[in-house]
Amino acid sequence: MSSNRIYIFDTTLRDGEQVPGCKLNTEQKVILAKQLELLGVDIIEAGFPISSPGDFEAVVAVCKAVNEPVVCGLSRAVEKDIEVAAQALKYAKRPRIHTGIGTSDSHILHKFKTTREEIIRRAVAAVKYAKSFVEDVEFYAEDAGRTDNEYLARVIEAVVAAGATVLNIPDTTGYCLPEEYGAKIKYLQENVKGIHKATLSTHCHNDLGLATANSIAGAQNGARQIECTINGIGERAGNTSLEEVVMILKQHPYLNLDTRINTRLLNPTSLMVSEKMGMPVQPNKAIVGANAFAHSSGIHQDGVIKERNTYEIIDPEEVGVDQSRIVLTARSGRAALAFRAKEIGVNLTKEELDVTYIRFLEWADRKKEINDDDLSEILKEMQIGAMA
Ligand code: KIV
Ligand code: ZN
Repeated sequence: MSSNRIYIFDTTLRDGEQVPGCKLNTEQKVILAKQLELLGVDIIEAGFPISSPGDFEAVVAVCKAVNEPVVCGLSRAVEKDIEVAAQALKYAKRPRIHTGIGTSDSHILHKFKTTREEIIRRAVAAVKYAKSFVEDVEFYAEDAGRTDNEYLARVIEAVVAAGATVLNIPDTTGYCLPEEYGAKIKYLQENVKGIHKATLSTHCHNDLGLATANSIAGAQNGARQIECTINGIGERAGNTSLEEVVMILKQHPYLNLDTRINTRLLNPTSLMVSEKMGMPVQPNKAIVGANAFAHSSGIHQDGVIKERNTYEIIDPEEVGVDQSRIVLTARSGRAALAFRAKEIGVNLTKEELDVTYIRFLEWADRKKEINDDDLSEILKEMQIGAMA
């Protein structure tokens, strides 16, 4: 693969929706799928059609609702799964069946109780069967992160020969280090016959907090599709977060890896997913957390007020956040107090600022955060109120 385009495969509606308590109904899936289309994702994994009649119906509805993205349905390497996925994808303008099987010794010995050769046979059969329904077939080697590279290369070579168009190399348990995962992708690039006919894909879980780093390492080593979810939701500690990989690639143009994501829709999409799934976003979450553009310590506030990029590497508007926030706490300094007073219409002189700051700290030591009403009250107590 020589292109520098990175395809964004969003699995919020499948891997993301597996989170306990995050289940979506058909109407919610359709609303989110349309938002993902607006956001510019290339592939939407809409669900796992054989898992329940409700999910089957939701995948059908998503296929009817979106036009641009490829719509993908998950299946195991089982004929019935593949048939049901194909049926659910019937209305997709661009359907893709995602099929696969565990390839690590742990999966082969304990889950399937079989042999490596038998796994290759089943993988090939599944891809060939899926190809009898659709042209675009993605194969996943579940637990590829813990599969030795030599055997993984044999599996991948066999499914490429069987017609797989996309090769998903999941770090299912979030075990790999970035160097290790990057080297795995590179090994496959260099050792699988026919690999240029297909696209290598990353699918990383966040059990050690490395999902995003591993996905980027994969892309730097030749993967051209990244599987991810909005807000990084997903099984256990979650999946790679879409907003993180997209902004990493955008903020580091020398990597020469581009996506088609409209980054101004990242924050609104994050809010929508959080609301529909009833899953709050942690405030310190990169890019979309409530504090991602909030400054509360005096040193940082002074810097940001003088020049935003002293403490911000992203312009908040670029990700759909109106502006950075200067939060008033007991750690804030005079510059922040003057700034916030000005925002509510009061231009403090140097002397006024000095006396108000002392009163402000008394309040701030009692309250976690000083809001506009509190500030007005403080200024009233100090009998300061000249409008700007
Ligand atoms: O994490 C994983 O291995 C998966 C596969 C089903 C693609 O989600
Ligand atoms: Zn997964």
